[in-house]
Amino acid sequence: MKLQFPEGFLWGGAVAANQLEGAYQEDGKGWSTQDVSPHGVKTPPTDVPTEDNMKLIGIDFYHRYKEDIKLFAEMGFKVFRTSIAWSRIFPKGDELEPNEKGLQFYDDLFDECHKYGIEPLVTISHYETPLHLAREYDGWVNRKLVGFYERYAETIFTRYKHKVKYWLTFNEINSILEFPFMSGGIGTPKEKLSKQDLYQAIHHELVASAAAVRIGHEINPDFKIGCMVLSMPIYPLTPNPDDVIQAMKSDHNNTFFADVHARGYYPGYMKRFFRENGIEIHFEPGDEEILKHTVDFVSFSYYMSICETADPAKQIKGEGNLLGGVPNPYLKSSDWGWQIDPQGLRYILNAFWDRYQKPLFIVENGLGAADQLVTLENGEKTVEDGYRINYLKEHLVQVAEAIADGVDVMGYTTWGCIDLVSASTAELKKRYGFIYVDRHDDGSGTLERYRKKSFHWYKEVIGTNGQSLFE
Ligand code: BG6
Repeated sequence: MKLQFPEGFLWGGAVAANQLEGAYQEDGKGWSTQDVSPHGVKTPPTDVPTEDNMKLIGIDFYHRYKEDIKLFAEMGFKVFRTSIAWSRIFPKGDELEPNEKGLQFYDDLFDECHKYGIEPLVTISHYETPLHLAREYDGWVNRKLVGFYERYAETIFTRYKHKVKYWLTFNEINSILEFPFMSGGIGTPKEKLSKQDLYQAIHHELVASAAAVRIGHEINPDFKIGCMVLSMPIYPLTPNPDDVIQAMKSDHNNTFFADVHARGYYPGYMKRFFRENGIEIHFEPGDEEILKHTVDFVSFSYYMSICETADPAKQIKGEGNLLGGVPNPYLKSSDWGWQIDPQGLRYILNAFWDRYQKPLFIVENGLGAADQLVTLENGEKTVEDGYRINYLKEHLVQVAEAIADGVDVMGYTTWGCIDLVSASTAELKKRYGFIYVDRHDDGSGTLERYRKKSFHWYKEVIGTNGQSLFE
């Protein structure tokens, strides 16, 4: 069977404001949870931003976005996924009026995208709750966050009504289970956070997300608003039915989030989990109705799969994209220990499609590697990243397989289309981009941009609407 991508497939790349903009206190921006997280998610936050935080400068996208968008356009991007830094718009998060300079920055950024026919895809909240909301309100544990988020969403929906069509409500919303501070702005340390408060915070996010869908559609019925989950297929380690059930239960932790977003109500397995764990979710009047505002599409990140087992002796936790799991003996790993499983992408696409029958958007996928900049004979500086090309090619072939299976896939944006600061470890050494940025973990570097080999490869993929993958 001939594999192909549909006409109008949205090819592009993805980034997040806090990992590349820098300018962390320019033009009225307030501090966010990222500004006090210099070493990634696994170390506790500092009181105030410290100089060893690579995100404070990022790759200086705030001042260089024109140059960068031009490079994306050169590759032929149809879509560019970025996030709006909440604390640029509402510096503390609980103000009544937005910060005009912050709004203007994104006006200019989106105009620049449209200059080249690139459609912005905007994440409303990508791991950067305003710090004030974390410190004063304990983040999403507090119901008031729903109102603050609604005001923020309404403000940006109204302002960018004619500039942005595609929206994502929360980045990898399920990651709050492991990283309540980064993902949910919850100030209480994880070890002290009760399950009751954690799941109540999740409820608040789910209500806020559905409210955003409602508000967005009122402002512009043409908006396409999606949820965004961290997807990670969970395979049973063996065919032992105990392992199969264990894998199913673990998977519920993840499907729960997309289930509520796509179906509009809490699934039975979660009600059981709440009963068995003494959790009582407080629903305010109207919450059930709000949740019925389901998303237009389901988007997700995909980097790896994991295994699960019921055997405590085999429950070893491998490295992974925020949530690691039992390593799969059949798979190889990246330099950072993430297991590489292209077929897992076809599997998860089919699984989501069968479950929801809603269009799917792969909004993150990519390979973090320690790239080396080299100088060619003609003097050009580049990175010979054949390993990245192989990784992306193998994954894209599986996307095409899923499309052939009948799955409705809207688009594909590679993660970190330009090198940026990593989310989990706050390193710059871990590079994902088609564009190399001369900036290093010790703060050195000119911030110059260089096209990698994969830059030219991706340009051809987009230019042939994927056909070059099969030649
Ligand atoms: C996802 C996040 O978890 O994975 C991104 O949405 C993140 O923000 C990406 O950067 C890759 O992870 P890392 O830790 O390698 O940057």
